[in-house]
Amino acid sequence: MENGKFVIQGLEGQKVLEGKISVRGAKNAALKAFAASILFDDGIQIDNVPFIKDIESVSNLLKHLGVHVNQISERSFKLKSSGGINTDLADDIAKSLRASIVLSGPILAKEGKVSFSHPGGCVIGERPIDIFLESFEKMGANTRKDGEKYIVSAAKLHGAEIIFKIPSVTATETLMMTGVLTPGTTILHNAACEPEIVALADFLNAGGAEINGAGTHNVVIKGVDSLRSRKPFLTPSDRIEAGSLAILAAVCGKDIDIIDCQPEHLKVLLRALVSAGANIQETGKSIRIKSSPSLRSLDIKTHEYPGIPTDLQSPLAVLMTQATGKSFIFETIFEGRLNYLNELIRMGADITICDPHRAIISGPTSLRGREMESPDLRAGLAFIIAALIAKGESIIHNIYNIDRGYENIEERLRLINADIKRV
Ligand code: EPU
Repeated sequence: MENGKFVIQGLEGQKVLEGKISVRGAKNAALKAFAASILFDDGIQIDNVPFIKDIESVSNLLKHLGVHVNQISERSFKLKSSGGINTDLADDIAKSLRASIVLSGPILAKEGKVSFSHPGGCVIGERPIDIFLESFEKMGANTRKDGEKYIVSAAKLHGAEIIFKIPSVTATETLMMTGVLTPGTTILHNAACEPEIVALADFLNAGGAEINGAGTHNVVIKGVDSLRSRKPFLTPSDRIEAGSLAILAAVCGKDIDIIDCQPEHLKVLLRALVSAGANIQETGKSIRIKSSPSLRSLDIKTHEYPGIPTDLQSPLAVLMTQATGKSFIFETIFEGRLNYLNELIRMGADITICDPHRAIISGPTSLRGREMESPDLRAGLAFIIAALIAKGESIIHNIYNIDRGYENIEERLRLINADIKRV
């Protein structure tokens, strides 16, 4: 699908970008708050919403279900589900984003049934949904497949003790939202701990839910009769956007101040950047990175929070092409998330892809500008960073995949003097 392209003039490895860049609200927090609207008896308000394609998609998905979605200002939405909503997720939209699966929990809890096709989203591995289906069954639901559709129904759900085989982010959020309105106590063992889960739990608790332990591996949810919204959901700043900008600053920044972010959500990444030689100053809400003479190789292993996020693996790979020595990547979360490295190789990087999870990158190498396709959201941003340090012009096609998660990235990068145009 051709949907616009970025044309970027490379800096030939010079560290010249400078200025302030502000971080937007987190996609993966806002999307879950949109899903939570289904649980509330009255309307909810969501603030600091990023202006990105995935928010448009989830809004359309909710509208199809019968939820009223109103944008009340540039970054604030009001959503109201008046009960008796449609229980079938529209295929064409649900297949475009993984977060659509998160709606299944609230719909099931409210309406006793839900049907949906396999959720889409970035093509970064198999992305099964067995944890969701098994957990719904544990809570008393029947699940079956009819053609492409999963059909989940329950005469009466009940609390259950659920042990996740893997700490899945969206499964933790979905089951937390299912448990909130389900009689009895639901316990999630081996739950994921990402900050977006804590933000969602805090919001639900402010509306009357009884969730304990969000942000740890054991989450306990006592079912309540109803939720009523008491205060808006304030979307936290996007730690993946902040981390990606920090990596960009380390490779091509002279003096870049990343503001409106929460460095405490990026401790392990920032530690890695410091060990690579980046010159970093943190305050409570900003990360300032000044150019350092050279970067050293890194050895990273992606991990659930608080480890190095898999979503930052591709920008880190670009940094490794500029670092002296042999760097190692071990991608532990997804099995299809190294394919973009072939494009960096075509730009001149020295990379050995050992297997679907591991790669060795030797540097420093100078990269050549190229014409390329953004394969997924995070690799798309990595290509922007690669294009910025390369020699010559690069063209990145399929930027829909970047707009899904980064708000007007080209306008914001121009503020720090990057030469990037949307055509
Ligand atoms: N998994 C299963 N069965 C399931 C669910 C997950 O085996 O039923 C496996 C996955 O295949 C993977 C592991 O569990 O190997 C962890 O995946 P997880 O479920 O945590 O990923 P997710 O919830 O689908 C969210 C983010 C991703 C982010 C991952 C990991 C959203 C909408 N997506 O995905 O974000 O990479 O957590 O942190 O919250 C992105 O924003 O670009 C993105 C891909």
